[in-house]
Amino acid sequence: MSTSPRPTISISDDQIQFFRENGYLAIDEITTAEELDRMRIAYDEIFAQQAGREEGMEFDLAGTDEDDTIASLPQILNPKKYADALNNTLYEANALAISIQLLGEDTTQRGCHAIFKPARFGAPTPWHQDEAYWDPSGNYLSLSVWMPLQEATLDNGCMQFIPGSHKKEILNHHHINNNPKIHGLEVDDGQADLSKAVACPLPPGGATFHYSRTLHYTSPNTSDIPRRAFILGFGIPQPLREHPRDLYWQKETNTYAAQKRETSKKNT
Ligand code: NI
Repeated sequence: MSTSPRPTISISDDQIQFFRENGYLAIDEITTAEELDRMRIAYDEIFAQQAGREEGMEFDLAGTDEDDTIASLPQILNPKKYADALNNTLYEANALAISIQLLGEDTTQRGCHAIFKPARFGAPTPWHQDEAYWDPSGNYLSLSVWMPLQEATLDNGCMQFIPGSHKKEILNHHHINNNPKIHGLEVDDGQADLSKAVACPLPPGGATFHYSRTLHYTSPNTSDIPRRAFILGFGIPQPLREHPRDLYWQKETNTYAAQKRETSKKNT
């Protein structure tokens, strides 16, 4: 059983200030090339196997996810469960250390996911706030760390952010194509000025950090290489809300993956 490595990096007060003001931060290096190579092999294996599909943990984020269709934006929830090489990483140790700098001492890890954008036909991840997916009875002090396992560019789907959008309430969202069989959510038209988008291209093993309410987007993959991203969540538990938010779009959700997760919960 291997243990977690010690963190090797920290960020400056200016970077912390930038994050608090703009709601995002990009850094060029969060792990080593050696670790990244190991992770990339394991990552490609679990996507090739569609690990977790039976229990609703692997599905198409941007499509209706029938078994006989080719996914344009496959996602695996909790990929650490399916690949040893994604556990106890320097990436995670550094991501936690920086998240503590950004959010506070009590910060802990809160789940992970992986999004694979296939070469030449990977779909966009539409503009959204992560909290639009989350339990409406919660309050959140949280962020996500997004690491590409190869270069991330405008052509293959690097992260883009709307600076300052983390200060907004949760905006109105809808399912992609207004189809509740599609998992992915998109912010409604006119809810934000998307012309203010800032793109964050990264070298392999760089990372972005964003608050759970920062609006973000990645473009379609028009390049000849797949775009792999491994995302870790961090946060500090907050008291529940007295009155849950009305995130009405969640009530419509009717994906195959959600049905499978419900069934496998009942069977355990
Ligand atoms: Ni997101």
